[in-house]
Amino acid sequence: MPPTETRTDVRRRDFLRWLAASPLLASAGGLAGLEQVIAQEAPRRVFDDLVQSADEALDVFDLQRVAASKVPTAHYGYIMTGVDGEETYANNRAALERIYLRARRLVDVSTLDTRVSLFGREWPTPLIVAPAGSQRAFHAEGELATARAARARTHLQTLSTVTSTAVEEVNEARGEPVWYQLYARPDWEGTAALVRRSVEAGCPVLVLTVDLNGGSNRLTLERYERVDDRNCANCHTPGGRADPVKPMLRGLPSGPADGSAGAAMTWDFIRRLRDVTDQKIVVKGLVTREDAELAVRHGIDGIWVSNHGGRAEGDGRATIDALPEVADEVAGRMPIIVDSGFRRGSDLIKGIARGATAVAVGRPYLWGLGAFGQEGVERALEILTNELELTMRAIGAPSVASLGPHSIGVD
Ligand SMILES: Cc1cc2nc3c(=O)[nH]c(=O)nc-3n(C[C@H](O)[C@H](O)[C@H](O)COP(=O)(O)O)c2cc1C
Repeated sequence: MPPTETRTDVRRRDFLRWLAASPLLASAGGLAGLEQVIAQEAPRRVFDDLVQSADEALDVFDLQRVAASKVPTAHYGYIMTGVDGEETYANNRAALERIYLRARRLVDVSTLDTRVSLFGREWPTPLIVAPAGSQRAFHAEGELATARAARARTHLQTLSTVTSTAVEEVNEARGEPVWYQLYARPDWEGTAALVRRSVEAGCPVLVLTVDLNGGSNRLTLERYERVDDRNCANCHTPGGRADPVKPMLRGLPSGPADGSAGAAMTWDFIRRLRDVTDQKIVVKGLVTREDAELAVRHGIDGIWVSNHGGRAEGDGRATIDALPEVADEVAGRMPIIVDSGFRRGSDLIKGIARGATAVAVGRPYLWGLGAFGQEGVERALEILTNELELTMRAIGAPSVASLGPHSIGVD
């Protein structure tokens, strides 16, 4: 920061940059719209300065605003990006907001039971830490801070293939093996080597992500990259913005680090996975009844209903709306996890009411990480858990098991 620049200057500059890059500007209708956006934003920004430490954040969006001012611009763009014009990203939220809770009264909620069970392991809450790559781009301690927070608050953590810290170290920080998320490598041997490494590290569950197999069109990321004037070659490959080689991929034949290496993948891939591992296999990214039926038929152990937080394909459909058909097809035969756009305890209730066993979040804990490291991740998880408990009491739902389609409605 130049010596004459105050923190507020930096925030203002970052905000204007963000605005210039944001699809909001286009959708708000040019300059007149811009003024309106600023007017809406201004009062919030007065409150932003009130959040100087993790415990001062009142909701996960407070953490987002701090992360926006602390995380390098392009890296913040990587967290925030969806695809195309952000339609799927927006719909994930809009669909959740359309659903209301049906509050029952005069129910004894003096004790709450928020436990859920996944593959025989009991967790105190249905809130899961979703896999997210490159976390050291958001905070120096990256995945280790996330692991320590997940350990402190006893949440299931899923680790990305493109983690910036190796699985063995993360497991140590977490205090037990995480679930390991798999992106296919371009060659089968590379894929099998990754799976074997996760087995040796003790990871009980393999989460195969399939929603990026067709690639993704991340325009918001590109825009943020263009306004970031730091020298990316300090960390990224010289002259380019390609990722630095990730610890889990070192020594493997090179190729795209994300799921796009899996373009040729079919259900046959699951059979091959079964040959190299006894881990439970969860497929992440299924959003239709047809694929749920195929998952059952191919002996998958769990389904993760996800559109990657609106950053994979731009199908425009919210996962909360895709969930019922998947849950209906699965009919309790395997656990279902849902994610994409869940930001409040009431959202978690909506996911469970529509058939999920557990709900995962990505950006909310990444905002916490970027804002305050481990403490920020802990705070994000604490906020969501507190909101979940408060809302369950408020609607007369004493346990996760008591939630169901009767708990919600849509106008
Ligand atoms: C910065 C970032 C990186 C991600 N990296 C991965 C990844 O490596 N593997 C994966 O399966 N999903 C990845 N995801 C998707 C998340 O696992 C999850 O599906 C998504 O974040 C949920 O949506 P939400 O961010 O709206 O909560 C990533 C998401 C974000 C925001």
